[in-house]
Amino acid sequence: PLQEPVAIVIFGATGDLTSRKLFPALFSLFAGEVLPQRLAIIGVGRSSWSDAAFREHMHNQVAGNASYSAAAWETLAPRLRYIQQEYTGDYAPLAQRLEEIDAELGLEGNRLFYLAVPPTVYIPIADGLGASGLAAEDHGWSRFVVEKPFGRDLASAESLDASLHTHFAEHQIFRIDHYLAKETVQNILMLRFANTIFEPVWNRRYVDSVQILAAESIGVGHRAGYYDSFGVLRDMFQNHMMQLLSLCAMEPPSHFEADRVRDEKTKIYRSLRPFHPQRVQSDLVLGQYAAGEIDGAAVPAYRTERGVAKDSQTPTFAAMRLYIDNWRWQGVPFYLVSGKRLAAKRTEIRIQFKHVPYSLFRGVLSEDIAANSLVLGIQPREEVSLEFQTKSPGAKMCLRPVQMHFDYHHGTAGPVLEAYEKVLLDCLLGDQTLFWRQDGVELCWGFLDPILQGCENDPGKQPHLYTAGSWGPEAAEGFLPPWEKR
Ligand code: BG6
Repeated sequence: PLQEPVAIVIFGATGDLTSRKLFPALFSLFAGEVLPQRLAIIGVGRSSWSDAAFREHMHNQVAGNASYSAAAWETLAPRLRYIQQEYTGDYAPLAQRLEEIDAELGLEGNRLFYLAVPPTVYIPIADGLGASGLAAEDHGWSRFVVEKPFGRDLASAESLDASLHTHFAEHQIFRIDHYLAKETVQNILMLRFANTIFEPVWNRRYVDSVQILAAESIGVGHRAGYYDSFGVLRDMFQNHMMQLLSLCAMEPPSHFEADRVRDEKTKIYRSLRPFHPQRVQSDLVLGQYAAGEIDGAAVPAYRTERGVAKDSQTPTFAAMRLYIDNWRWQGVPFYLVSGKRLAAKRTEIRIQFKHVPYSLFRGVLSEDIAANSLVLGIQPREEVSLEFQTKSPGAKMCLRPVQMHFDYHHGTAGPVLEAYEKVLLDCLLGDQTLFWRQDGVELCWGFLDPILQGCENDPGKQPHLYTAGSWGPEAAEGFLPPWEKR
């Protein structure tokens, strides 16, 4: 178990994220005896809830879960407290209350502030905490945890950061990307740098293209209000896709340590070839889902979803070809594809190798020799699979493409940490390896801003409609490798 006592203070305690993700993750860590004994989980919200109401609500979130234990709940319940707070109000009473809880439970002034609230109140909360002395680290540590979106363009990301930095230093700010908490995403660096056989071919001499796919079958659901003003480039590319890209492309850091890992990612973001206006036409396809079927059930068009403007031009699909201008990757296209209401939920990275330089089987084989590929399945298939050629048994000389396959969970007995459990644990440990550093955030916005402007200011760059349940618009097939046929 962790030894350091702590108060975990959740802003937005009555909201969806707290109920669905944060509290179940905290409970599971507590039941697994990972959290320290000297602990408080303090819900903060604008509604006037009592401690009892907060406890009951949280109990309902976990009571049916596999990790539920009545004994663990009995121990944890008295450590749950609720404080009512206007986010733009006076934080002195909150600070006072935290002091009291601290003294009662012996928490030594360590505080983790987790913002499960809309981004519009990030700055008021940071200001309130700063003004009431809660950001200071003179008595225990103070950490500030936020989730994307970190702004909606470079300028707003910079101004958000400037506001946070008025009160918090960089080592106190934890910017979550929940993709980094996925086991299979963390595995990318292990596969690359804990083996000798992949790295020698992991470059422009052997790799033909890299394809990163994050397909979802869900639509925008109840998040339409947010999504319609963001769209897929801001929602998925600015964060998760860029993280997957940098993990595939980065150089080995000298040590697996937060800043060294993030330094290497930053170098990749700095090497992204800028998108000039004509490349917005040639190297980017946008789409938006029309009505269709998912798993045999009819689903509505994006524009008819509740909360979406009837004439919305917001893209729900994007396919982008980009290049990394450095020694290792010069000329190798990276294809990034993500969309909602596609045929299946599938996140994977395909390293497509080059063809053999010369076929000594010419005249013997009737078919061309397919190139090798290595697929890293991120979710839901958590796997590594290498495709190569073998002789098809029999008198005739024929090739047979086969796969060497590894299931990520094969042979493991230990429980796998759910993404939010991992995120919370790392925040408590103060380990920022899996979190965004501001320079990376800004470099990625710097890359995406001209693309977004190019699309949003160009009436000709409207998203192509695609049928829900398909693999995206036909227009994307022209320049993409045939990932959709897998
Ligand atoms: C979120 C996006 O960050 O990631 C969502 O805002 C998206 O739109 C989600 O659905 C995908 O996450 P996961 O873990 O389901 O692949």
